[in-house]
Amino acid sequence: YPPDVTRNFSIIAHIDHGKSTLADRLLELTGTIKKGHGQPQYLDKLQVERERGITVKAQTATMFYNYMRENAEASCASPLAGRSYLLNLIDTPGHVDFSYEVSRSLAACQGVLLVVDAAQGVQAQTVANFYLAFEADLTIIPVINKIDQANAEPDRVKEQLKSLFDLDPKGALLTSAKTGEGLSKVLPAVVERIPSPKGLIASPLRMLLLDSHYDEYRGVICHVAVVDGMLRKGDKIASTATRQSYEVMDVGIMHPELTPTGLLLTGQVGYIVTGMRSTHEARVGDTLHHGQTSVTPLPGFKPAKHMVFAGVYPADGSDFEALSHAIERLTCNDASVSVTKETSGALGMGFRCGFLGLLHMDVFHQRLEQEYGAQVISTTPTVPYIFEYTDGSKITVQNPAMLSSQPGKRQTSAREPIVIATIVTPSEYVGGLITLCCERRGVQLEYNFIDSQRVLLKYKLPLREIVVDFYDELKSMTSGYASFDYEDAGYQEADLVKLDIMLNGQSVDALASIVHSSKAQYFGRKVVDKLRKVIERHMFDVAIQAVVGTRVVARETLSAMRKNVLAKCYGGDVSRKRKLLEKQKEGKKRMKRVGSVDLPQEAFHQLLQNK
Ligand code: GTP
Repeated sequence: YPPDVTRNFSIIAHIDHGKSTLADRLLELTGTIKKGHGQPQYLDKLQVERERGITVKAQTATMFYNYMRENAEASCASPLAGRSYLLNLIDTPGHVDFSYEVSRSLAACQGVLLVVDAAQGVQAQTVANFYLAFEADLTIIPVINKIDQANAEPDRVKEQLKSLFDLDPKGALLTSAKTGEGLSKVLPAVVERIPSPKGLIASPLRMLLLDSHYDEYRGVICHVAVVDGMLRKGDKIASTATRQSYEVMDVGIMHPELTPTGLLLTGQVGYIVTGMRSTHEARVGDTLHHGQTSVTPLPGFKPAKHMVFAGVYPADGSDFEALSHAIERLTCNDASVSVTKETSGALGMGFRCGFLGLLHMDVFHQRLEQEYGAQVISTTPTVPYIFEYTDGSKITVQNPAMLSSQPGKRQTSAREPIVIATIVTPSEYVGGLITLCCERRGVQLEYNFIDSQRVLLKYKLPLREIVVDFYDELKSMTSGYASFDYEDAGYQEADLVKLDIMLNGQSVDALASIVHSSKAQYFGRKVVDKLRKVIERHMFDVAIQAVVGTRVVARETLSAMRKNVLAKCYGGDVSRKRKLLEKQKEGKKRMKRVGSVDLPQEAFHQLLQNK
């Protein structure tokens, strides 16, 4: 399969518009997977994806498609007709947190299927994904899906595609991934409209490292796109980033399982096994080439931008090594997480991890627990702030506790990350949404009707204000009809203060946060209230205080009392006593002791929420 019969395309869409279902149908149509394989959303392989019904990881599948003469849209004499094509399909996630996965996938594609739900129409992530594909100069085939639904309005969607993206409505395909209607038009359109990959087989080999995963037996398996040249099993290759050399022990395609082919040609997407042992060797975005030739590296990827940071600690202090191992393995499959070691007075040794958003953080924790059996405690998430001092020094604060390590320095400015948010909503909810954005310190940038009943709003908002519960609030306020997406827009000055939490006079570093000074009292009160509810009573009073500098902004006292587990134990039977005490200890497994106060995991989890 030389490049002229190869097509690389991605399916992009707003969340739940049917990407993964459409991918299933295309895999079935080409006989790549069996019909009724009993596992919907075949490419969503991770347990977390199945449980949550969302795609988290982009997945590639290679299909072979016989393009028949009768399929030709333009003419029966089409030179494309009657040939067999190799199609690489990349299913991508829809949620805003995973747009990094989407932009990476697009680097291996020449075109996309932009899937839009026929009833919901264009949503915020449709807009974001359209621009990712448009900026990458890809051919865009609009697919209006779910036309079987009673409330489907394909004509209105066509109008939106025209007015927002200037896409020709005549080019839109109408499909139902559920009933199969219109699906026979999809692959012919891919062959006819999406250009073949541009590279040259005769050129020296250049491969882009797209992703990797870890296999217990074979080590790191790299997913690659061959941009130029060809690769054979047994070839010696080298990495541009690390300068390390490897022998290619296996090479093949994802069909959709790993299938050895012994060879990959220009334009193909596949996997290689090279005996890389450490995940640090597989750098996503790296250019791999034949050891003896030197090549100009490919553009690679923009580094992932971390939006939230949180401490990740072993639930049981002795498990630090196990957690470290689990994190290393998982970051091999999720290169967008940043990891550095840190130590907390309250929690001991752990890691500070950077995530693309809160859903990403949640998914990371869930995968750590499900796939690697790690039990973790995570601290209150924070966004990265920048503080500057009179001596000209500047720090990016990913952990509020870092602020205490700048003694004697006078702060000159504080800046917080901001985003440009896009909201698409039915017009009746606009009023409520404007109020919500104002409460969150937002500034309106755009207010546009995209058709007679839908409005697109753009707001500049502090990341801190939207990162936790903004999305939930927006959904509940609009009965789920509004959608939301955001992109990074740098930093702006803000009046920020550190909010410390003290338990019986002792500051708990893992509970500290940085807040806007106008909201310090409000957040202080909330945190104190929440802690009062989640901390169990002790044998003594527990004073819970929120403090800014030396000023106490909120205070509660949890009065003494503790269930005395020994009360029922009349006799002096020591072993029974010990059993009861151990049982009580079990119940507190995921607690941390701060001074003399036991703090449950929930305390760390809920604090950033605005409600
Ligand atoms: P993410 O991966 O989470 O971004 O979602 P997705 O876009 O991959 O959507 P998915 O394929 O998981 O489909 C979402 C829901 O829509 C599922 O319940 C599907 O069964 C349903 N669905 C998909 N296509 C159709 C269709 O053509 N008609 C109808 N009625 N439902 C569909």
